Amino acid sequence: MSKLLFDTCNINHLSLTNRFVRSATWEGMCDNDGNVTAQLIEYYRLLAQGGVGLIISGYAYVRDDGKQLPGKMGISHDSHLEGLKSLTEAVHQLGGVIFCQLVHAGGQTTSKVIGKPPLVPSMTDYAGYQDTPSEMTNADIKEVITAFAEAARRAKDSGFDGVQLHGAHGYLINQFLSPLCNQRQDEYGGSLENRMRFLEETFVAVRSAVGESYPVTIKLTAADHLDGGLQATDSVAIAQRLEQLGIDAIEVSSGTAVSGSMTPVRTEIDSPEKEAYNAKLAALINEKVTVPVMVVGGLRSQAVMQQLLTDDIADFFSLSRPLIREPDLPQKYLNKNGYVATCISCNGCFRPGLKGEGIYCVVEKGQTVNNK
Ligand SMILES: Cc1cc2nc3c(=O)[nH]c(=O)nc-3n(C[C@H](O)[C@H](O)[C@H](O)COP(=O)(O)O)c2cc1C
Repeated sequence: MSKLLFDTCNINHLSLTNRFVRSATWEGMCDNDGNVTAQLIEYYRLLAQGGVGLIISGYAYVRDDGKQLPGKMGISHDSHLEGLKSLTEAVHQLGGVIFCQLVHAGGQTTSKVIGKPPLVPSMTDYAGYQDTPSEMTNADIKEVITAFAEAARRAKDSGFDGVQLHGAHGYLINQFLSPLCNQRQDEYGGSLENRMRFLEETFVAVRSAVGESYPVTIKLTAADHLDGGLQATDSVAIAQRLEQLGIDAIEVSSGTAVSGSMTPVRTEIDSPEKEAYNAKLAALINEKVTVPVMVVGGLRSQAVMQQLLTDDIADFFSLSRPLIREPDLPQKYLNKNGYVATCISCNGCFRPGLKGEGIYCVVEKGQTVNNK
């Protein structure tokens, strides 16, 4: 039977009403301590009403030294629980399903934000670090793994339907996987088996904190698009290993903040040919694993996504910027055959978030798209 975008599908035992996913998107709407605000809850109500099958939250820091941007969500203390519960309740009341994305920024933050040198797998001249970092000791590694597990427990306690490890875009898990950032000489560095160890131990700790039936997924950078960085052959092996360990879904992304035109958030997606810029990487992974694969990056046209589904490239279709402009996009896809998202991929949505107003589509508001 042919697969359709509005099929009901499962991740672990969780049933989703369609194959559209809101890819994790930092909204810049939490308070200075990472607490959920009324503005953020309102934002998620719009997403839930819009009919997306699964909402993945903006990246939530598992430890205070893993925070990156202002207005970012915290899940590092039990004091965050109350706000997080209000958030999941609001989504559930509207029939939505929500996962929490768990992150430690590693070296992709600054001492100005976290009050101390950022933690990194090893001291390298990686261009993605804006500050002088500090190499993690073995004790640091164990503590951060524990922080991921505690954050996953908090996510479950506060009503999230699952979690997603942020293993992409140059953050700590990606830093451990990438030979560019990880030049450790111990059991956490060197061979792929060693570079994967931090992720494996994190996954096992998270799984043990939340149990077998709770969805644990990952957003994985399938290639850094940097000389000497993580390559697709490695990421296919990583995906296979995660499947053996019991991962429930893999969202395929690529690139880092310093990958030039190959960043995770590419601009000028103005034709069907430029859409789905991670499709080839997703196909490589989907060929080798049986767990659901999500693809993210430049998806705009219903027809493109249906073709990727028919061609077995991916099982789920993740969108970030298009849902900033049109939170009701899934309903439009349902009601207007062949609909194409109106997002012009200008990245102007970052600007109000960085200014402390929370993200929104600047084009929709008639503002200039200049992102400087
Ligand atoms: C404002 C903004 C915030 C983002 N925040 C996150 C995040 O918290 N976690 C993450 O994994 N990716 C984040 N991304 C990347 C998106 O999830 C997605 O991978 C990327 O934008 C490509 O998808 P798109 O073409 O549908 O926007 C963000 C992107 C934007 C535009």
